[in-house]
Order: sequence, then C-alpha cells, then structure tokens
Amino acid sequence: MNIVVKPTYESLSKAVADEIVKHLQSSPRALFCPASGDTPSGVFNELVQRQQTGLVDISRWHFVGLDEWVGMNGEDEGSCRNYLDRQLFGPLQIGEDRICFFDGKAEDKKKECTLIEHFISQHDGIDVVLLGIGLNGHIGMNEPGSDPSLFSRISELHAMTKEVGQKYFSAETELSEGLTLGIASIMNARHVILMASGEKKAAIIREVIEGEITPDVPASLLRNHLSFTIFIDEAAAKELN
Ligand code: F6R
Repeated sequence: MNIVVKPTYESLSKAVADEIVKHLQSSPRALFCPASGDTPSGVFNELVQRQQTGLVDISRWHFVGLDEWVGMNGEDEGSCRNYLDRQLFGPLQIGEDRICFFDGKAEDKKKECTLIEHFISQHDGIDVVLLGIGLNGHIGMNEPGSDPSLFSRISELHAMTKEVGQKYFSAETELSEGLTLGIASIMNARHVILMASGEKKAAIIREVIEGEITPDVPASLLRNHLSFTIFIDEAAAKELN
C-alpha cells in the first residue's frame, strides 16, 4: 500500500489525475473504472481540462461502471450514471460504444452483472479503478461484511448508505439495493486508487490504514492488492498515527 497525503483537495485532485493518466496512457487497452460521488469531482474536472487543453488524449480510453442504485439508470437524477454523464462522459464526449454501465432498471439484474464482467474481460481487465470510501468503509456498494470472493452482484445497502445517499437527490428517495462490482472484481484491477478528502473521512481512513484487514471494513481488504494507493488530503489524514 502506498499513501500519498496532499495539503488541499485541489492538490489532491491533481495528484490523483496524474496517477490515472500515467497508468492509462501506458496501457494498450486503457480501461478506467471511476466511482461517482462528491470525492472524485475535482479529478474529473482536471481530466476534462487536460483533454480540452490537449495535455491528455483520452480517445483510446474505455469506461466501466463501478456501481448503480437498483431501480435507476442515467435518466434519473442522483444515479451514478447521471452523475458521471454530467461530470465526465458528457464533457469528454465519450460515445456509448466506449462505456459499459449497470442499468439498475433492467429486469434481469444478474444479466447486467454478467455484461459488466464480460466487458471487463473483453478489454483484458480494468487498468485503473478510482474509488471513494463510505463512512462505514464501503467501496463501490460493497458494504461491511461483503464476501471478498464475489464479482459483480446485487448488494443490500446499509442504513448509513441509504441515509448518506439522500444527498444525491432533491427529494427523499427510497434506496434499498445496488448493483456493484464485487470486491473480487476490484482486486483484479491492475491499479487501485482510493481517494478521500475532509475531516469526516479521517476516522475510517485510520481504520483502513492502521486497523485489521477485514471484510467488516471492505476498503481494508485493498491492502492485499499489489498496486494500491490511498490519496488523502491533510484533513482526512488527521487521525493517522
Ligand atoms: C459511488 C461509490 C461510493 C462512494 C462513497 C463515497 O460510485 O462507489 O462508494 O465512493 O460512498 O462517496 P462521497 O465521495 O460522496 O463521499
């Protein structure tokens, strides 16, 4: 595990963008799996700016979804896909042929999971997965207690995830399950980046870095990955010994 601490959210976002670009530009396939949520938006701004100013050429990159709320897809405000459309896919003008994403409205949810895993295999694996972290240690929608041997699947959301998830919606929204890459899918990525910012993430970041490696804190399992880097700002690093 590598740990990178940056003074501010802005410098953190630039450092994460540098890391993503470094790995994807040197990969012949360039498959990127980005989380949605508040944390990576600075990274996406960076990537968009770099593409628009010619600093980076993302024309070869392909994208695979990390997770989605069951019952939602890109048409829904607050869905993971909708967020990525606004923050990343839209501004980068990524065609649908370069994206594979869970459709949480699909009748056959297991088929959605199979399609995602098939897309990943077709592209010779994920090069970079960019994760945020939930206050309970979740990654994607792999909640505490998730079986680390599972690939893409339907996940039962924890009460805290349902509550915190309300921030993505303008009105109270019922959230119960998610479609997510499993921990095994994430562990198979060539490079795993976990990003966290702000004091509210400090306690869980300490557990991930200094605590036991356990499925009860899903992000701690990433310490067994050979290329795992945690990028945090000083506020999120505050409780480290
Ligand atoms: C979202 C996702 C989640 C978030 C996590 C942190 O696609 O995978 O695991 O990364 O809930 O969310 P933020 O960044 O909003 O604090």
